[in-house]
Amino acid sequence: MDAEALATTTARKRLHVITWGCQMNVYDSGRMADVLAPLGYAPAAEPDGADMVILNTCHIRDKAAEKVFSELGRLRRMKEATGNRMILAVAGCVAQAEGAEILARAPYVDIVLGPQTYHRLPEMVARASRAGNKVIETDFPAEDKFDHLPDAAAPQGITAFLTIQEGCDKFCSFCVVPYTRGAEQSRSAATVIAEAKRLVAQGAAEISLLGQNVNAWHGLAPQDVDGGGEGTWGLGRLLRALAEIPGLKRLRYTTSHPRDVDENLIAAHRDLPSLMPFLHLPVQSGSDRILQAMNRKHTADEYRDVVRKLREARPDLALSSDFIIGHPGETEADFEATMHLVRDVTFAMAYSFKYSSRPGTPAAGAPMQVPEAEKDRRLQALQALLREQQAAFNASCVGLTMPILFTGTGRHPGQIAGRSPYLQPVHVTGPAELIGSEVQVTITAAHPNSLAGIIHTSQERRSA
Ligand code: 5AD
Ligand code: SF4
Repeated sequence: MDAEALATTTARKRLHVITWGCQMNVYDSGRMADVLAPLGYAPAAEPDGADMVILNTCHIRDKAAEKVFSELGRLRRMKEATGNRMILAVAGCVAQAEGAEILARAPYVDIVLGPQTYHRLPEMVARASRAGNKVIETDFPAEDKFDHLPDAAAPQGITAFLTIQEGCDKFCSFCVVPYTRGAEQSRSAATVIAEAKRLVAQGAAEISLLGQNVNAWHGLAPQDVDGGGEGTWGLGRLLRALAEIPGLKRLRYTTSHPRDVDENLIAAHRDLPSLMPFLHLPVQSGSDRILQAMNRKHTADEYRDVVRKLREARPDLALSSDFIIGHPGETEADFEATMHLVRDVTFAMAYSFKYSSRPGTPAAGAPMQVPEAEKDRRLQALQALLREQQAAFNASCVGLTMPILFTGTGRHPGQIAGRSPYLQPVHVTGPAELIGSEVQVTITAAHPNSLAGIIHTSQERRSA
């Protein structure tokens, strides 16, 4: 029986997915819902009374496991209220890292699955539905989950995400990703292009390519699907192919590693107007000593150099970054080097975190852990500088006219909201018909995290 026939013969069930963590988890949650749709599961807005709840977890920072067990305590009561009919699944990186420990501490959980096995969810649900059965699937299967996933059931909307690469081989000292998501794996160019075309047909005007180390993507070139051809493509070549899809107005990619920014990618920034002039390029630290301890495989000056080349290629490029404060061994001088780099490069926005020890990673056992109070002090100083730069960047947009992709209504009546090329939220007074269009807007005011503007004269029409 095909999936559609199965769906029509299966009673409608309610599925609620709770998503923590990065955009890739958001994407994964959507795909888990897609996999379960043929079994009759439809999205439920609340976990209360749902037939199945998936907790899609993140392990990157903080007390991830503790947060999971406390959330599971809440879900347990909801499960009991359904007479234990609710199937409770824990997915994502905490599931991968903790595995059987989750079933030991929370025996009311039915399914524990890692990020690489969710294509097997229907079979896991069938096994878990037999009373008392527990299912753990945290291996890294030989088959590629993407080959076993159905096409997306629910459209993502005007802005869509597309995972092209997963896992990481970089092994930064502090990071759990190489352990929870596994070795780096790239999807083929043909499957990525086909999914992008589908997303555009479903109404996407902007696609963000996702990967833990997205610019390490190296996929089989389309011709090679039937043998022969160009071998493998890098991200720059893929972006060129995607830029040709009619109706696709904007392309982005995240998260990239400075070491994997190659000449082709820089050229793509030069040549492709639809590749947005905003790049998230984590540097983590501005100190060569710490970058080496982090196993980042580049120096602070090499980072400056990559940024210089990118800005030469695309002069209006703005940058965002990630910083870790208080990696083991970080001295005041190392921290000052980070502040120095921030002043040199200038960021339109940034994320900064206190180093948090992740069991099993090399940095966790390293000597010279930085005291919490010191981390707090340094983080506050860094964040003050980053806030200042973000405010200056937003202020520099006032008076400019830029294309805004409208994605929904604003908070106030008569307002519509969208995103600038630099991902800033922008609010204007305008007609709801413009939602889904890219329209020229003159920016009139800057706020800490958003902009306001007016629709550029005689532009109140749908863009082509
Ligand atoms: N502690 C603090 N921040 C971390 N990140 C990753 N691992 C850790 C950790 N152990 C941050 C990095 C990365 C972002 C996704 O999360 O800055 O780029
Ligand atoms: Fe983690 Fe990114 Fe380093 Fe890979 S490159 S180990 S995902 S921080």
